[in-house]
Amino acid sequence: MTLRIAPSILSADFACLRDAVAAVEAGGADLLHVDVMDGRFVPNLTIGVPVVEALARVTRLPLDVHLMIVEPERHIEAFARAGASLISVHVEVSPHLDRTLTAIRELGVQAGAVLNPSTPAETLAPVAELLDFVLVMSVNPGFSGQRFIPRSPAKVQAVRAVLERAGSRASIAVDGGIQPANAAQVVRAGADILVAASAIFGADDPAAATRRLRAAARVAASA
Ligand code: DX5
Ligand code: ZN
Repeated sequence: MTLRIAPSILSADFACLRDAVAAVEAGGADLLHVDVMDGRFVPNLTIGVPVVEALARVTRLPLDVHLMIVEPERHIEAFARAGASLISVHVEVSPHLDRTLTAIRELGVQAGAVLNPSTPAETLAPVAELLDFVLVMSVNPGFSGQRFIPRSPAKVQAVRAVLERAGSRASIAVDGGIQPANAAQVVRAGADILVAASAIFGADDPAAATRRLRAAARVAASA
């Protein structure tokens, strides 16, 4: 599978989002990851539909909207209209996951399910055929700049096994604490999308940091 790098704007300077986007585009980013938080499912409050709309006006990168909100099904249509190309919802707040993933796809958007570190991979088995991608959290969601949870590569492997058993070729993204130093292990475990906020926007040169992350992951892919 082709490796994709998804810089998360959560660590960017929100007063200069246009420049932040331009920098990671120049660095060869494949997706732009947008962290939407509601202060309920996760402790933090971040951004919503108007910012996604604004980003869509200044980039051609597909917008990968990660909803860390309760009742995500109430907002998927608005995010799709705002320009999201991918939308992911957390399994923990989606009692009707089958219906929600179907609704995302019916909007012409790629559908993803997100697993918190404590949520088992097996929860995805019944909906595997509805998934375009899975987002494996390698930190507890809510903030950028947290430490990568070391058992995350094993979780990625477990998700890959569940998907393979179901005949699904969905992508696997990993999100949280991703750095050049651990990119190799998650790619080897089966991930093909790397999400990173602080490793990219915390760097002096986000374009170079995007390239560094891809280079670190490529080493794994060819090992
Ligand atoms: C965490 C968010 C992540 C976060 C990653 O709740 O979902 O996308 O921005 O930040 P880093 O890469 O700094 O861990
Ligand atoms: Zn995220």
